[in-house]
Amino acid sequence: MATDKTAVIGFPVDHSLSPVIHNHWINALGLNIKPYEKISVDPSTFNEQINNLKAEGYGGLNVTVPLKELAFNISDETSGVSKKLKSVNTLSLSSGKINGDNTDAVGFINSLDKKTIEENITNKKTLVLGAGGSARSVVHALNELGSQVRLYNRTPEKAAILLNDLSINSSPVGIEEIDDYANSSSFIVNTTSLGQKAGEHNNILSFENIETETFIYDLIYNPKRSSFLEQAETKGLKFQNGLRMLIEQAASSFQIWHEIKVDASNELISLLENV
Ligand code: ATR
Repeated sequence: MATDKTAVIGFPVDHSLSPVIHNHWINALGLNIKPYEKISVDPSTFNEQINNLKAEGYGGLNVTVPLKELAFNISDETSGVSKKLKSVNTLSLSSGKINGDNTDAVGFINSLDKKTIEENITNKKTLVLGAGGSARSVVHALNELGSQVRLYNRTPEKAAILLNDLSINSSPVGIEEIDDYANSSSFIVNTTSLGQKAGEHNNILSFENIETETFIYDLIYNPKRSSFLEQAETKGLKFQNGLRMLIEQAASSFQIWHEIKVDASNELISLLENV
């Protein structure tokens, strides 16, 4: 049965594209439920506000920064992946209990073509740039896909903590060796926010000696083609931005709440590209 009231919570939450995505599916399927909303939730009174939303009949909440750890802590029951990441992006409130899940890692996996997973990730060396919240999901996903993940972060201590938390047996890559690691990777993903602001250039790597078969992924989707992806394009490499991951993590939340499988149609992609 479809969950009647759903929303995304964040602080701030104005920028979120989740309402466009979920309302597209709600309308396309003709579900007789309330439109998906966005609600600002102040972290300092998080638990009280969640309990209020629950009392108001909200059955499903997506959670964005900086509330994912608080959402993990308030959950009565959490999925295996949420426990691993200590982070929840999908709350289900319809039963008596608060159930927490995390669809970011599966969203990343589902955003990838099967061929890319087989040829560039499984049993291959991969390189992740960044050690923030989204890097955690990506590193976990790549590890689950059987890749040998290496991690670089501007602040190496954060990379070391991430690797330790996810029980990955490798040391953070230093800036002085990053190009060597990049040149031996078949998949490289940028999870840093570098390149999101206009005029910002992601020059963490030199693309000069990257193998021609290497797949380049940037979680940034606005701009559609970041400076990182522009360098990949100039080199003639295969590349992808983060829009598909955004849609796929939403699709997994939608399925948890409504028990309906939805996907990334061309119509939805062009809707999001033109918001
Ligand atoms: P998210 O939740 O999207 O992952 P985050 O947790 O704020 O965002 O993490 C941002 C990431 O981008 C971090 O890895 C950050 O590096 P630090 O840990 O050293 O702060 C990285 N980042 C942000 N600006 C950067 C810059 N100018 N150069 C390199 N890395 C940068």
